[in-house]
Amino acid sequence: MQIRIKNLLKQSPVGSCVQVAGWIRTRRDTGGFSFLEVNDGSCLANIQVIAQGSLANYETEIKRLSAGCSVRVEGMLQTSPAKGQDVEILASGLTVVGWADPEHYPLQKKRHSFEFLREISHLRPRTNALGAVARVRSRLSYAIHTFFQERGFSQVHTPIITTSDCEGAGEMFQLTAMAAGDGPRGAEAREFFGRRAGLTVSGQLQAEVYAMALGDVYTFGPTFRAENSNTSRHLAEFWMIEPEMAFCDLARNMRVAEELLTYLLDDVMTHCAEDMDLFDRFIEKGLLTRLRGVMENEFARITYTEAVDRLLQAKKTFQYPVQWGIDLQSEHERYLTEEVFGRPLIVTDYPAAIKPFYMRVNDDVRTVAAMDILVPGIGEIIGGSQREERLEVLTARMEAAGINCEDYGWYLDLRRYGTVPHAGFGLGFERLIQFVSGMANIREVIPFPRTPGFAPC
Ligand code: 4AD
Ligand code: MG
Repeated sequence: MQIRIKNLLKQSPVGSCVQVAGWIRTRRDTGGFSFLEVNDGSCLANIQVIAQGSLANYETEIKRLSAGCSVRVEGMLQTSPAKGQDVEILASGLTVVGWADPEHYPLQKKRHSFEFLREISHLRPRTNALGAVARVRSRLSYAIHTFFQERGFSQVHTPIITTSDCEGAGEMFQLTAMAAGDGPRGAEAREFFGRRAGLTVSGQLQAEVYAMALGDVYTFGPTFRAENSNTSRHLAEFWMIEPEMAFCDLARNMRVAEELLTYLLDDVMTHCAEDMDLFDRFIEKGLLTRLRGVMENEFARITYTEAVDRLLQAKKTFQYPVQWGIDLQSEHERYLTEEVFGRPLIVTDYPAAIKPFYMRVNDDVRTVAAMDILVPGIGEIIGGSQREERLEVLTARMEAAGINCEDYGWYLDLRRYGTVPHAGFGLGFERLIQFVSGMANIREVIPFPRTPGFAPC
């Protein structure tokens, strides 16, 4: 029976007959037989296959195999004398499933730049680094569900098409429909829903609805932002994890966020040890030491006002000048978490004027109960807050922000009927994977990145 290489390496005894299927990484011929490196994507490791000249298709097929060809191999597992591997397969049969013309197959044995690999996003998961990212991403997704499910949170599928702009920052993609018969020219944008609709920038507002009924909930889905920022940390389509908790204040919100991050690091280091080791060696030297440090130390905490003071005291000139009231820029965030604290940092109580309408106004009136978590190398990884549960305060904030309260009747109803203090946050899934893998550019941690001017397939 066919076995995945990961399981084979874990459990198949030497001397057993095994069958694997995968893609050729390399072929090397020597004295009448060939060494083939086969990878099936189940793990980083390849399995070495020895194909002897006595195999029926040795001259006709095996000697023509090149990187990218898919094969099915059966044979006996034996101890390998070669360095770097314990076992290998002595093939008793090999079937070529699909050829890959070596003249045109773009993945060569040498190391390719990530920029080049982005141009072939349909093939890049076959490389060591991008394959490792894909497995780590999958594991983290599983661990996120486990974390919340084990703690009694219910998952809510919030809509992707929405008529409310949660962040109010004007970064929504608008949706139009073309009726059948509309040609590309002269096609008029139709308001399919009878009103303006767009792709969600956050599932939070709808998650709040379910928190007001189920207590602790979370969403984990794609979100879209038409931000025209071509940076190493922004995507137009990204995934976000958003827990929302009823009867919850900012303090518990921060505890859950810190616990979640620590849990995820521990999980991925345990279950993706081989892939994490690859990142540590080739992507960011010292990554594992850094992540262990994060797990062992509590996150630092300061208020926005204190953060501004620290920035003003800094013996460093920033591109964006600092004063109370500004939105912290990436350079400020990174200075604080990397140079001042050297560990993750939670900044709380931001000026009301720079934060969205839903955040709870503090007693000082000029700040809100917000919290951002900043981590070294990335800057902001989590943004969250306690929500404004007082109807009058919320309505006043919305009016001041120029939001039409009638459009948000349903949201305000939550404050009319059994309102409770509640809080939540959003963790950017790709920023998390960047943090965990050390990847410098966010485009490497999502299978098919979408950025301004870039959406190839
Ligand atoms: O800080 P943000 O905008 O917060 C919200 O959307 C809230 N509604 C979350 C909540 O309280 N439920 O975004 C949350 C996180 C950021 O901290 C960042 O990690 C990530 O989402 N993020 C992006 N990731 C990739 N590309 C972008 N363009 C991103 N914008 C935000
Ligand atoms: Mg934010």
